[in-house]
Amino acid sequence: MVCQAMKQLQQEFEHELLACHTRKDIEALSVRYLGKKGLLQEHVKKLKLLPPDERPAFGALMNEIKTYIQEKIQQVKKSIVEQERAIALEAEAIDVTLPGRRSWLGGKHLISETIEDISRICKDLGFSVQVAPLIDTEYYNFEVLNFPPDHPAKDMQDTFYIEQGILLRTHTSTVQGRFMEQTSPPIRIVCPGRVFRNEEVSSRSHVFFHQIEGLYVDRDVSLQDLMWVVSEFIHRFFWPELKVRFRPSYFPFVEPGVEGDIECLLCRGAGCSVCKYSGWLEFIGAGMVHPQVLRNVGIDPEKYQGYAWGLGVERTLMLRYGIHDLRLFSENDLRFLTQFRHF
Ligand code: DAH
Repeated sequence: MVCQAMKQLQQEFEHELLACHTRKDIEALSVRYLGKKGLLQEHVKKLKLLPPDERPAFGALMNEIKTYIQEKIQQVKKSIVEQERAIALEAEAIDVTLPGRRSWLGGKHLISETIEDISRICKDLGFSVQVAPLIDTEYYNFEVLNFPPDHPAKDMQDTFYIEQGILLRTHTSTVQGRFMEQTSPPIRIVCPGRVFRNEEVSSRSHVFFHQIEGLYVDRDVSLQDLMWVVSEFIHRFFWPELKVRFRPSYFPFVEPGVEGDIECLLCRGAGCSVCKYSGWLEFIGAGMVHPQVLRNVGIDPEKYQGYAWGLGVERTLMLRYGIHDLRLFSENDLRFLTQFRHF
């Protein structure tokens, strides 16, 4: 009778064991059969009810079954653990033959890099880098720079006015009045930054672009100094033998005013569509600071002279790299920008 019951217990155990697939299942089964309140323990209680001469045989059978159950549980547990480990390993497996995933590092925009290059060259030539506000007054943008009251640049069609007398600067020349008012000569500064013009956006014009302004004021400054520093700058920025020439030009804040041309970077002076078959490219506006501008900021033009120059960053890059569309600089298309990255 008792033996029968034990046999059944073993069979049930085997049956339940087959249904164990996880560690949790097997733990539960172990508790169910071997636990303090488990099924085997139930049978131990029955031991006392048996006649004394049957007890040793029953006890021995009990032990045998207990050992059997323990071993089986150990076995299945081990195989479950192994299986789980194999699954985990497979999930973590790395296919070393797959191509690597490239992580892209951000980088400086071509404009920022160029501004840094130009500023570095100017620093080497003795200039310090200054900033001036993007929103400024009509006074610093025009009046102090000797623009006549009816100058066309002052028109709403060319300039973004924020309110009367306040505008988005149309050139970095605003730094001239601001800086000279606060400092006395010698002055040697450059000012890079964004400027704004009320223009139709096209491949040739945009509502904003970047310039760098240079200003030098000291005693005994001549046009020759200006021509030397501009030529030196050009030779350091492009390459040493590049030809430079100066032509008379007009800007209200300089007298005389000049424009500096460089030999066409593409055809080297032979004539091509970029230089309109002249062999030259307009590169920089410059001149001797107008005595009236010096007077406007409280500097005596009898004692001091100065020169100033201004160039467009985008324009310089268009000439240097043969870029045909100004909009490319502000569209942030990586296909364009990454061409200029030095990885
Ligand atoms: N501000 C001028 C412009 O936006 C550029 C310029 C020309 C700056 C002559 C100068 C200069 O300092 O002397 O077109």
